[in-house]
Formats: sequence, structure tokens, C-alpha cells
Amino acid sequence: MKRTQILLLTALIGCGASAQTKREVPLYLDPQATVEQRVEDALRHMTTHEKVELLHAQSKFTSAGVPRLGIRQLNMDDGPHGVREELEWNAWSAARWTNDSCVAFPSLTCLAATWNRERAQDYGNAISEEFAYRGKDLLLGPGANIQRTPMNGRAFEYLGEDPRLAAEMVVPYIEGVQANGVGCCMKHFALNNQETDRFTVDVNVSERAMREIYLPAFEAAVKRAGVWSIMGSYNLWLGVHCSHNDSLLNGILKREWGFDGALVSDWDAAVDDWQSATGGLDLEMGTSRNGTLTGNRFTYADYHLARPFERMIREGRLPMSLLDEKARRVLRTIFRTAMNPQKTTGKMCSEDHYRTCREIGEEGIVLLRNERCAAKGRKREMPLLPLTAERLSALALGGGRPRLLIVGENATRSLTKGGGSSELKTRRDVSPLEGLKTVYEDLADIVYAQGYESGQAIYDKVDVVGLERQTKLRQEALEKAKDADLLIFIGGMNKNHRQDCENGDRETYDLSFGQNELIAELARIQPRLIVVTFGGNPYAMPWLEQTAALLHCWYLGSEAGTALANIVSGRMCPSGKLPVTFARRYEDYPYVQYGAAAYPGVDRQVYYKEDIFVGYRHFDTRGVRPLFPFGYGLSYTTFRYGEPSLKTLDDDRWEVCLDVTNTGQREGRETVQLYVGREAGEKSLVERPRKELKDFVKVNLQPGETQRVTLHLSADDLAFWDVESHGWKVERGAYRLYVASSSEDVRGSLVLKRN
Ligand code: GLC
Repeated sequence: MKRTQILLLTALIGCGASAQTKREVPLYLDPQATVEQRVEDALRHMTTHEKVELLHAQSKFTSAGVPRLGIRQLNMDDGPHGVREELEWNAWSAARWTNDSCVAFPSLTCLAATWNRERAQDYGNAISEEFAYRGKDLLLGPGANIQRTPMNGRAFEYLGEDPRLAAEMVVPYIEGVQANGVGCCMKHFALNNQETDRFTVDVNVSERAMREIYLPAFEAAVKRAGVWSIMGSYNLWLGVHCSHNDSLLNGILKREWGFDGALVSDWDAAVDDWQSATGGLDLEMGTSRNGTLTGNRFTYADYHLARPFERMIREGRLPMSLLDEKARRVLRTIFRTAMNPQKTTGKMCSEDHYRTCREIGEEGIVLLRNERCAAKGRKREMPLLPLTAERLSALALGGGRPRLLIVGENATRSLTKGGGSSELKTRRDVSPLEGLKTVYEDLADIVYAQGYESGQAIYDKVDVVGLERQTKLRQEALEKAKDADLLIFIGGMNKNHRQDCENGDRETYDLSFGQNELIAELARIQPRLIVVTFGGNPYAMPWLEQTAALLHCWYLGSEAGTALANIVSGRMCPSGKLPVTFARRYEDYPYVQYGAAAYPGVDRQVYYKEDIFVGYRHFDTRGVRPLFPFGYGLSYTTFRYGEPSLKTLDDDRWEVCLDVTNTGQREGRETVQLYVGREAGEKSLVERPRKELKDFVKVNLQPGETQRVTLHLSADDLAFWDVESHGWKVERGAYRLYVASSSEDVRGSLVLKRN
């Protein structure tokens, strides 16, 4: 054989060898391929049964991949405030791992109270790093159901009463999460606004209220944040369970909004074979029975989207295209998360996560009251907050160290436990008492009294504490109050059943466990009383006028005590603003006038009779004075708003500009809010709220500093949902633009003429 032939033969063998050594990587495994290429290629390789296996749970919190093809399973976990501890593979009980403690971030209502989009992005980034580190692909959250009633047991997991605020905060949260290759599963879609009868209640709501109030946050998540999955809710709409509701899921979510991700059922929310197959459900989780099988006899193969669905496909009762469409959505979610080459490794319990937790808590705490009051024997009156060292010493009688009494179970009780599926196992859980001691133990003699007891977080019953025990605790606190120069009461709601907890609503608009009476008696003994409350919902405050200061904290998570102490001491200036209206009386909420049919419903039918007039849309338009209005929150400094001016960008876009100045002595943040309503006297086709939130900007100002603030408005912001044309409609004529510090505190306004 000639030399050239030998060289050629060697080269050919070499190529052949390299071809054999270079493994054929199928496209669906090629990290360079696009998600869509990988989805289509995976489908081509899969059997019908493998496609069906993708569509339902294989354990409590995972769904199957395709083991034969090396396609990963989807690992999901709760919840919106942190990565839940590991549960057993097939049971709701804790797996009792020793490496799954996490950072408990503040509740989403606290995040909403920051009115800070950057904080929402920070939140999403940090929480998804913890999810990724725990090997999770889908975060079951955020929750963004609108707070129409202060009785809703899960309101603490949501973003308040206004659709624009909820949308503006949920978009950066989702972006922050998904940038790390973890998917959000936004919930609960839709109309899950109460826990009473949550599995069976059928929500009757007008098309306009649906579009203007209850859907916008979800629409923004799909259209602006590109959310990768959405969780269908338990309740019904138009008589059909939302987790497989053709009109809601195939009609609005997928066809109208263009949602390309997976619709995941809430756990045990799928109830019917045919509806699960045809009603827009892609991934069935948590089902526990069908018409015949229950308990251990019911297996994953019995899920509605398992054997029953496969049978319908094989018998030709449903087209293969329907199976492929569902499989595509689940595969897309897998390639975006579990098999995303850019997915972060993440980390847990890092100091930057604790810092994010603290900063969100500090910015979410709302200062509701800060009256001037005199120290005993002194003429000069001053506000109690910020409780600086000099203020504290000025309160001391007889020149000794001031005596600070801290009263209340929430000063020591962990509020990251309980509450339902959002419950967290934490390594760090700084209590308010610990946080305050860290700041004040060298400045004052600190004494603690529990004051009241609430029992333990029990999910299916209220744990009643006997009157004798409550009386004993109260007397101890009142006795100690007699010797105190200053009182800090720390109470409010907690994560017990019938408080802020899943699967049950509140029983009363009042604080429980005798707190109202205790606060009033403490105030009688010592008027220098700071009240600090935790909780996801507004509540009645019969003692308000007797207290000097009031801070509401929502739930602050792992750094609760540190965040609270930083605000009380003035290390941080409070800048939170209410995402919900605090009514004076329960009866003032708009739906109450319509009786039980409007809440909690009668015979599993609930009617949203207040229509679009939810929250401040009711109070402000109908002149019902709230205790504290939507968007309200005090600061330790003051702000001056300059005259707003209107800048027209084009026929459909405008800017409202104004100067904001910090006129106080301390650095502080202010959220400037833009509301819009029809100009007085303008005719409108429909009744419209006097004003509705359309934009907001939060600025940080040094003492004396002025910043130019620009708020944005588009023609879409002027629209209402027209039920005749089933679309948005913008009316011509004049609109009033309000620049405000709260929904009630208008600092300037101007007229916009829409031609
Ligand atoms: C629960 C909740 C849902 C949670 C899911 C998994 O019932 O409604 O928010 O993510 O089940 O725990």
C-alpha cells in the first residue's frame, strides 16, 4: 500500500474513532440549543406514556422527568417567603433533614408596604438562591390575590388591595427569581380571596371587577415578567374549578395573554378527568382521590392526567396534539429550570440574604402614629420615636437608668412557624425582644412581661387559653408597668389557625387574646406607650388615642428583631406605606353591607357585590373615613412636594414631574404616588372610582435635599373595562391627576385632557 494510501486510511480511521469517541448528544440535551429546539426534540424522542408521566406528580412536591432520556424531574417547593423544609416523599410530614433551615424573608404584604421595586427584585434574587441551593426548580409563589376582605387568613402572603401596586411589586420579584434559573409558580389563579370554603366556593364577580381588580397582577406577571408557571386556585369561577377552567385558563391565560408556561394545579385542586384533560391544566399536583379510590389505594397512576387521560388519548377520544401541548409546557419549564445550563448553584443563610431580609423588613414597617408626649415632671413634649439614647434618658424618673417594660407574646414568639404552607424552618429567628435588648440593654433596665397567651399554632382548631392564665399574665404585666418609664407593647396577629393562617379565615376584626383590654389598661398606667403589631390584615384599634406611637410590621422573618430595633432606635427611618386600608370598623368594608352572600358566601356561592369598589376605591369615592388610608405611612422626617407639571410625550404617553424636598433633620425615604380619576363633572359611561393608583416612585433624600421625581402615565392607565365590547375603553375628556403621599393626602394635582 502506498504511503499516501496509508496516511489517508489512518486519517479515516482517526475520524471514525473521533466520531465514535465524540458521543452523539441529542439536541434536547444540547445546552447550546434553544429551549424550543430542546422541547421539540425531546417530544420526538418520547413515547406517549412518557409524555403522560410528565403531567402529574410522582411525589408530594416533584413531577416526573423522562429517566430513559435523561430529562430531569421538576422539584417544587413552597413558598413565597422562603424555601420550605423538606417533607417526606409521599406525605405532608417533615422529613426531618438537618440541612434545610433557611432564611425566612418578610411576608409579601411587608414587601408591598415597601413600595420599592428594587427591594422586590432583591427579594426574588435572594430567595431563589436559597431555592436553587436546595435543588428546587419551581418556587410556589408569589401569591398575589387581592385583599378584598380583612378576614382572609392568607392575606399575609399577598400584596394588598390594589392591582397596580400588586403588579408593580410582583414583576420584579418574578424577574429576580427567574434570572437565577428558578421558576415562579404564581398563585392562586384566580379569585382565591378567602380561605373559608376555599376548596368549593364558587366566586361570582363582574367581568369588569375581574379585569380591573383581580386579574391585573397575573396579567403583568405573564406579559411583563414572563412567569414560567402559574398555580390554578381551588375555588370555582362560573361553576368550574379554576385549576381546570377552560374559560379562565385556555381562554384568558393562554390564548388571550399568550402564557407559554405550565399551569400547575393547587394541591388536590383537580377533581375531574375530562375537565383536567380539556380545561387547561398541564401539571396535576397533590390529588388525593377520584370517584372511587381514596387514601393509600389512590396512586399517582390514578391521577386525572395519568391513566384516565392516557386512556382517552389511546382511545382517540382526545387528540395527541392536546397531550403534546401539555407536554411541551412542562418540558419548557424543565429546560428553563432543572436543565437550564445557566441555573445558579445558589446559597443559603448567607449574610447578604439576611441583609436583604432586614432591609425589606425595615422598609416595610409602617409608622402609623407618633404623638408628642411629655416625660413625667417635664414640660417639654416630644414624640417617643425615634427612641434615641437621649430621648430614653429624658424619660427616666429620678435620674437613674430608664426602666423599659416590653409586654406581649409577639415579643418572643416565632412568627415564621405556623401559617400553613408558607411555614419555614429557620436557623436565625431574631425576636423583637432580642433585637431591642441588643440596642437598649446598655441604656435602660429592660423587663419583659408576656401579657397574654395565644396557644400553639394548630391548623385545625383554635387553642383556647383559660381565663385564669390570661388574667394572671395580664396582672403581672400591669403590675410591672407601674414601675416603668416607658412601655413597648408587642402583639397583633400570629400564625395560629383563625389568625394569619391558611385554610381558615379570621373570626373577628379585633385583636384576639384580650389584647385590646390589656393595651388600654397599660395606657392608663403609663401613657408613654409604643404599640408594635404584627399581622397580615387590618384590625380595630379602640385604644389608638390612648397610645403615643404605633408601628405595624406585617411579618418580618428571620431578622424581625433587628429590623424592628433599627426603626425604633432611629438607625433607620421608617418609610413603609399601607398596601391596604385600615377601616375604623369592620362594617365600613364595602362588601359587609351586602351580608353573608358577599362574604363568606351562602351555600358555597360568594358574590363580590362591591364590584370594583375594593379598598380605598370604596372609602375614598364614597367618603367613608378610614382609620388609616391606603398608601399612608409616617416618617421621622418631613417632605415638601413642589408643584407638579405635565409633560406630553405623544398622544398616549405623559410624564408628571415635581420636586420633592426633605425638610426635616434626618435622612428619609418617601413614596410619591400618582392617582388618576375623571375630572369632576365629566360624564362617564360607567361609575368610576374617584381616583386609582397608576404609578409611584420611592426616593431617598438627605436632610435638605431636593430630587426631581418623574411619574409615568399612558392612555391604558385611563381605561376602564367595557363589558359591552369585552375590552378596555378610554374615554375622551378631562382627567384629574393627583400627586399624593397617600390615597387621602393629595399634595398637588393637574388636569389632563384626552382628545
Ligand atoms: C396549598 C396551598 C398552596 C401551596 C400548596 C403546596 O394547599 O394552597 O399555596 O403552594 O398547597 O403546599
